[in-house]
Amino acid sequence: MKRIFSGIQPSGNLHLGNYLGAMKNWVALQHEYECIFCMVDMHAITVWQDPAELRATTRELAAGMIAAGIDPAKNVLFNQSQVAAHAELAWVFNCVARMGWLNRMTQFKEKAGKNRENVSVGLFAYPCLMAADILAYKATHVPVGEDQKQHLELTRDVAQKFNTDFGREVFPLPEPLIFGTATRVMSLRDGEKKMSKSDPSDYSRINMTDDADTIALKIRKAKTDPNPLPETTEGLVGRPEAANLLGIYAALLDKTLDQAIADVGGLPFADFKGKLADAAVAKLGPINAEMTRLRNDPAYVDGLLREGGAKAAALAKPVMDEVYEVVGFLRP
Ligand code: AMP
Ligand code: TRP
Repeated sequence: MKRIFSGIQPSGNLHLGNYLGAMKNWVALQHEYECIFCMVDMHAITVWQDPAELRATTRELAAGMIAAGIDPAKNVLFNQSQVAAHAELAWVFNCVARMGWLNRMTQFKEKAGKNRENVSVGLFAYPCLMAADILAYKATHVPVGEDQKQHLELTRDVAQKFNTDFGREVFPLPEPLIFGTATRVMSLRDGEKKMSKSDPSDYSRINMTDDADTIALKIRKAKTDPNPLPETTEGLVGRPEAANLLGIYAALLDKTLDQAIADVGGLPFADFKGKLADAAVAKLGPINAEMTRLRNDPAYVDGLLREGGAKAAALAKPVMDEVYEVVGFLRP
């Protein structure tokens, strides 16, 4: 039986990249597997977070995930800090992982930069908390993007070393789940830059909270080149904006790039943009409406998360009991 664990950092400004690159794939997973979706607020505080904002973005993310189609009744959806097992197992893993392993993590090097002496200890230990997230549920599969593959490798190393050190097969070695269809959505202003919540221009992204008029306007203003759309995928080489908009169009309509080109290849951008706006509004309109409803009812969202937290805690309990017994902690 496959059990999936997926973590996502709470952040505001959810956009089309988050939806097509992550959420849409998770929505598909829930029909096939047992899924645990965790909003990792404890990872978030490895760098400074304004407390009120952290609470708000956690709710916002929950609303976005539910609006995107993740069913909180069918899956386990919660925020990390509700379940003490994450912190408890992370401590054990801090004592299993080696300094040398964490020293090799490229995300730490990137985030710390030249400021190594001054970043939090939590930022260094981040991968051990991530290993704990996954292994507290003995999850077997983890959907990850390129940037998180190294952390998943470390999770496997931690699981393996724990099992070997204590001579017991406690943990599975979790496998990455790579989506063949995951879309990398680029900025509407620059086809070579990722669509990102931190881009200063709001015209660079389509937010999950944008209304239909805003979506259409942003697509009309999106950067293009002077030529019509190509009639083959090879024709996209060297045309990052055309490739991006076509990729978005295909993903919104659940088509392959070839199918999308068969559909709209050869059109001038002005015509294509109208079709793209229609597709975006059709997909995001209902999500947007549901998000608005959920944002206006935070108590309802909190209630769902509380239930998710209770389900998660019940799943982690036997694993933590086993770990503490194996490690040799006296629990009189
Ligand atoms: P972030 O908000 O950047 O931490 O991203 C949250 C999730 O959305 C991660 O799984 C990312 O891989 C995904 N994501 C963010 N931006 C994009 C993008 N422009 N294209 C595709 N996926 C993205
Ligand atoms: N580090 C992941 C990211 O930044 C988030 C994350 C935390 C995660 N715990 C996880 C992802 C466990 C998968 C499994 O995207």
